[in-house]
Amino acid sequence: MAGSAIGLGNIWRFPYIVGEYGGGAFILLYILSTLIVSLPIFISEVTLGRRSKRSAYGSMSALRPGMKGCRTIGFFSVVIPLVILSYYSVVGGWSLDYLGKSLAAEFVREEPSVVSALFGTFISNPWAPMLMQLLFLGATAAVVAFGVKSGIEKFSKYSIPVLFVLIVVMCIYSISLPGASEGVRYLLKPDFSQLTPRSFAYALGQSFFSLSLGAGTIVTYGSYMRSNDNLVVTSAGTAVSDLLFAMLAGMAIMPAVFAAGIEPGAGPGLIFQTIPYIFSSMAVDAPVLGAAVSIIFFIVIVVAALTSSISLMEVGMAYLNERFGMKRWKGCILLFVICGFIGALCSLSFGPLAGVHIFGKGIFDFFDWLASNFFMLLLALVTTLFVGFSLRKSEVRDEITNGGTVNNKVFPVVYFLLKWVAPISIIAIFITNFIL
Ligand code: PHE
Repeated sequence: MAGSAIGLGNIWRFPYIVGEYGGGAFILLYILSTLIVSLPIFISEVTLGRRSKRSAYGSMSALRPGMKGCRTIGFFSVVIPLVILSYYSVVGGWSLDYLGKSLAAEFVREEPSVVSALFGTFISNPWAPMLMQLLFLGATAAVVAFGVKSGIEKFSKYSIPVLFVLIVVMCIYSISLPGASEGVRYLLKPDFSQLTPRSFAYALGQSFFSLSLGAGTIVTYGSYMRSNDNLVVTSAGTAVSDLLFAMLAGMAIMPAVFAAGIEPGAGPGLIFQTIPYIFSSMAVDAPVLGAAVSIIFFIVIVVAALTSSISLMEVGMAYLNERFGMKRWKGCILLFVICGFIGALCSLSFGPLAGVHIFGKGIFDFFDWLASNFFMLLLALVTTLFVGFSLRKSEVRDEITNGGTVNNKVFPVVYFLLKWVAPISIIAIFITNFIL
């Protein structure tokens, strides 16, 4: 679950969303959303998966056979992760390309200002980003086809701690850059005048995205959990490490953004402009260190991205297998083709298709918005309503307390949050965003 949660959402998406939607004040909203809305929903999703022992597609209908709409919801919980995977693989491809650039020591050979400008040239090229995206998607499909098993699990177990250590090193370095203090202030001194009604939706959306909620993944992974695992402790542990990781990533990126004179609201390319800047500055005094750290850093980012993209594809694969009995390799080819096609359009939206807009957004931004500010919220809402209202309280208690053996004291609080606070917050956000 941590492998699925910790990924590009923390390193790539969090810093630029913070930059666009309100800095330090946005971070407070984000922390609040995670603790009082997302964590209870996380617990609901795990409950649903573990109790039904089914993937996201079949979980509701297994627990409430004959209930109307369960299949449709199940179907949506397969479509949503595939939409996410399509544009996620674009950023996965960018990371892969930047790993290549690190291996070629490009960041340490050039001036910091030159390397941070490389990104613009790279994404406006039609071919290179698209090929890298397909390569990333192909790697995801290959792992899913051969089974996730011990290889990738073991790898993520070691790579996530390495990523933590590296991000701390980068935080320290980034804070020491000249001009960085303004970035630290930007993150830690909330200025509430920077918040807009949109910030609330984006805070919740970011927190769902980062915890892999409303995308079928946690329900599917929950179904693999043992009956004596402590559900609340596992969920809270995942949420806290994910939060901590995002904060560290923000602390590594934002001071460097200010030091480099880049606009914090620069959008999806933010980290690809700042991280190379950090490495290039590091290399002025210590070229070998700069080169080595940049290679390790991008390897780990690619791995963190892969463990998340695998979890996204696995939901679709489980569906194809459960519903049509499709073989894994056939399913993976099909998913590769679908996501590759949508992903290619997303990739091209930074180059030749830059002029195409849907509801005022470029193709990439539109899919990202559609998934994380609309579909994920909707699916998460339906899930908590199902767990809060369709399942009996005794069933939920039985699952969360492992038959009354653990978490008895926290159960009433968790239940109240998941039954009332989480759905009401999501509905309030929908109303402010779409109706008012
Ligand atoms: N949580 C992942 C990340 O932060 C992305 C993701 C979203 C994965 C939804 C699975 C489902 O990178």
